[in-house]
Amino acid sequence: MTNKQLKELLDSLTLKEKIGQMFQALPQIFGEDGAITGIFDENIEVDDVISTVGSILNMYDTERMRKLQAQHLESSKIPLLFMNDIIHGFNTVFPISPALAATFNPELIKKTARISAKESAALGINVTFSPMVDISRDARWGRVCEGYGEDTYLSSICSKAMIEGYQGDSLESDDTIAACVKHFALYGAPYDGRDYNNVDMSERMMRNDYLPPYKAAVDANVAMIMTAFNNINGTPATINHHTNVDILRDEWGFDGVSITDYGSAKMCYNAGVVENHTETAQLLIENKVDIDMMGGIYGMKYLGKAVESGAVSIEQIDECVMRILELKNKLGLFENPYKYFRGSESIPESERKNHREVARKSVSESSTLVKNENELLPIAKDKKVAFIGPFVASNDLTTHWAQIHDKREIGLYINEAVNSFTDLKGEYSYSIGCPYLSDDEELLEKPESPCENDVQQYEKQAIENAKNADTVVMLMGEPHQLFGESGSRTEITIPEIQMELLRKISKVNENIVVILFNGRPLVLSELSKLAKSIIVSWYPGSQGYLGICDMLFGYTSPSGRLPFSFPRKNGQVPLFYSNIATGHDHEEGQFNKFTLRYIDTPNTPLYPFGYGLSYTEFKYSNPSISSSTLKRGESISVSVDIENIGKRDGYETAQLYIRDVKAKLVARPLKQLKGFEKVFLKSGEKKTVTFEITEEMLKFYDKDCNFVAENGEFIIYVGAHSMDNRNSVKFELI
Ligand code: BGC
Repeated sequence: MTNKQLKELLDSLTLKEKIGQMFQALPQIFGEDGAITGIFDENIEVDDVISTVGSILNMYDTERMRKLQAQHLESSKIPLLFMNDIIHGFNTVFPISPALAATFNPELIKKTARISAKESAALGINVTFSPMVDISRDARWGRVCEGYGEDTYLSSICSKAMIEGYQGDSLESDDTIAACVKHFALYGAPYDGRDYNNVDMSERMMRNDYLPPYKAAVDANVAMIMTAFNNINGTPATINHHTNVDILRDEWGFDGVSITDYGSAKMCYNAGVVENHTETAQLLIENKVDIDMMGGIYGMKYLGKAVESGAVSIEQIDECVMRILELKNKLGLFENPYKYFRGSESIPESERKNHREVARKSVSESSTLVKNENELLPIAKDKKVAFIGPFVASNDLTTHWAQIHDKREIGLYINEAVNSFTDLKGEYSYSIGCPYLSDDEELLEKPESPCENDVQQYEKQAIENAKNADTVVMLMGEPHQLFGESGSRTEITIPEIQMELLRKISKVNENIVVILFNGRPLVLSELSKLAKSIIVSWYPGSQGYLGICDMLFGYTSPSGRLPFSFPRKNGQVPLFYSNIATGHDHEEGQFNKFTLRYIDTPNTPLYPFGYGLSYTEFKYSNPSISSSTLKRGESISVSVDIENIGKRDGYETAQLYIRDVKAKLVARPLKQLKGFEKVFLKSGEKKTVTFEITEEMLKFYDKDCNFVAENGEFIIYVGAHSMDNRNSVKFELI
């Protein structure tokens, strides 16, 4: 449709029809099935839902969706939009978001989103509530499993890659979907790590550290944005005018569709900041929020009333509805409202096979080897290996987001994965050993485990298998019930019952490899003493065990780098590498009472941000800089040589960190990631990696929140992780 036609369509709508476009319904309202991803409100009052509603969320049955579209179009001129949470894959499930960040490979990340778009668009979905780019530095928060880690720069790169993958070159294509970046804003920074809790943050910190990944999404032309549940400096994010209008619309120029989170409009009343829902409706409109997800605030009862009373003008309503119509138009729904219901058979098996290959490759690119004593890994193909741990009983390494996709594709069990390799000639045993959690752990939902009724027998079997093996591979970690939405924990540890099993196993066999399944950084201090090798695998998706076997037996080498700092102890969180300088900085290993530290634990993490080993070894040398001064508007370059000095081929990720030594009256981070390059080096090969340094990279929000680069000294570190200070060069901005 042309803009003129869209405008005519808008003008032809009644107020009720306009407001209907702004309401997003759960399928349950029409008696249909759908995922429940929040507090289900049974008291939503909306009129003539099926004829007036603008969009539906959380529905996965394509045939039912097609029927609803047809039913809707009997009385409406405007097709429905179907929106869902496609978070880390659809039919093909990829590693979870922190794992994707750990690949440090934006091209691969983009490919995963591209595949998700193809698979979900074929089944009727138009919009995904992804990417979630909330920076979080507090691993107690359960939703760190959905974001891309603690770092602003890395998250911004991931944000852009995901959006480019979902949206492709044009939303009009049959196989692209609109992305909806979330949760705007600062949802990842509740002050005590508990989901939904308040965020109080200075304007400067918000702009320097937390907003850039959302801004990267807007710059990548994201179609939609979702407001967050939390209050920001006291005001609910959904009606926070400063973030929603001053920054998002006016400063960044976002002209796409804004949607509330699940019922977050109605929750403004609970937060005690409005008198009634009609006032919320008025505030939402003033915040240029276009769609009310699940809420019922955008209905004739509240929004209609606000229009009747004159508190909201019809021009304001038109502005919101126009943005929604424009999105539907961009997706090509007016020309063909059924174009997205092609069915999964429309994707040929050859293409699906390729999707699975990408998922499998992403397992070793995201899994992070953090310890490998005596080169226990990779395991020779003729060794006796005992696979032990609760995850032996699981073929599902896909998390709760895939669960709501109705387990479209789950993977093989570990034994099936091992058996699929025809050239493995060793002996392999499998035992569960213990349940995921002990009985005394309080949880609303508990993961099932076959050994719950007879733990001792299962444990005995595991110990026996460990005794008879050359190498033990422990498959352990957090069941997915321990993270995700409202999945915050006070102790970010591996469940004690699993640690107890590990202790017992370590007494009979010291060659232990741990494959860790986790939705957040965990405290691995004791584990790192008991295991010789550790691979942090997060939740690796539907090709999980195949990808894990690829690494275990040396067909691939793990090449992930941690997107979070892993603490030594619980009390260290929030923990992140880009700490701001203080007047009391502490030098590790030096005793000095009056410095910034805990008295019982070093400041450093157990494994730093950016860290990860390989089956081979890399040597950095010859750091050099093209000039010791950078003039404004020009650029200089920094290079370093990297050599693979080990016996195997492998990937190394060179990371560029910058320290702004002095800034006017604002203390700056001790280091900030500003670039990286993942390079593949054959054994013996050497490459020079070069980074360009520009004035833009040195800018930050200063004391008065101006975005500036200040003259003066900067230090650059190029190395293997955030604590690698071996190669540094200096320059001055003039
Ligand atoms: C979550 C969102 C999600 C929405 C729809 C909410 O509970 O916070 O991230 O997109 O549900 O499922």
